[in-house]
Amino acid sequence: MTVPFKFTEDDTLIFLDQRRLPWEESHLPCTTAEDVARAIKEMVVRGAPAIGIAAALGLYLGIRDYEGDKEGFLNLLEEKKALLASTRPTAVNLFWALDRMEEVAKASVLPVEKLKKRLRAEALRIWEEDLEANRAMGKLGASLFSRTSRILTHCNAGALATGGYGTALGVIRALHEKGLLELVLVDETRPLLQGARLTAWELEREGIPHRLITDNMAGHFMAKGMVDGVVVGADRVAANGDVANKIGTYALALLARHHGIPFYVAAPTSTLDLSLSSGEEIPIEERNQEEVTTIAGRRICPRGTQAFNPAFDVTPKELVTAIITEKGIVRPPYSASLKNLLEKQE
Ligand code: MRU
Repeated sequence: MTVPFKFTEDDTLIFLDQRRLPWEESHLPCTTAEDVARAIKEMVVRGAPAIGIAAALGLYLGIRDYEGDKEGFLNLLEEKKALLASTRPTAVNLFWALDRMEEVAKASVLPVEKLKKRLRAEALRIWEEDLEANRAMGKLGASLFSRTSRILTHCNAGALATGGYGTALGVIRALHEKGLLELVLVDETRPLLQGARLTAWELEREGIPHRLITDNMAGHFMAKGMVDGVVVGADRVAANGDVANKIGTYALALLARHHGIPFYVAAPTSTLDLSLSSGEEIPIEERNQEEVTTIAGRRICPRGTQAFNPAFDVTPKELVTAIITEKGIVRPPYSASLKNLLEKQE
């Protein structure tokens, strides 16, 4: 199965370079926290859970060669954590994974050499848990569909965006495994084309039936009765159920509501941020305008034209039919159901 990275016995984090897909399958080896921070920022690796796992492994790489006392160790850890946390602001998994690593380091009474091993194991555990969560979400999400369905998805919430298998694409994979998937409509997802370049690449490799559409075709196919459900991933879910995900998700949710089509969000509990009361508080990453003014390096508008480029938008909770997590499926009112879900977890 596709995975976004490998971690070798001798501590090299090797990324499948997602910037170059589907044209080329090239790999980028990283051995320092600086390398990993750059890979996250430049989107060699992307997708909320994947950047969380990469950051945890990157933090381990940042402290691996330290020699000295515990105080110096914790200072270095803080420094590398800040570096990795400064890469991308929207997906909470990044901060969640770094906090979890820091908590382990702070709570531990182990000597530095053993603590390093403990942190390596913790980062790998975060990866393993994500894979398990994806499979659980796949099973749960597939149970929402009782007959053969056509699913529309946006961006890439697949194996490449996670520890493997995928969140939204995990649900789609599980439906396919059950023989209940007729077709996936893949939004190309401008500006960076994660749908066309990455989701279609994953589906094609596995022989899962799909058709690529441009983002502005979704309403047309919904009106024609060709979409039975929309399933997307998330970068951050606020306490009230508002969902930040790839730019364009909000418009899709509105279209789905108008056409009476269920709109599902698949997100592990590591994507929930109950410290934020609503989506208004979610920081939205602004990226370089060249991503909009060019396609595959070629300018598509006059030289003097400027562009906006928010990487994510917020879908209001009212438009979300249900949120599929590894602990269960939650429905409105989300302020109560999300809280209950996390309490159940503790
Ligand atoms: O900018 P990206 O490619 O990192 O954005 C990714 C998304 O918006 C995904 O839908 C989200 O992270 C969920 S991935 C399981």
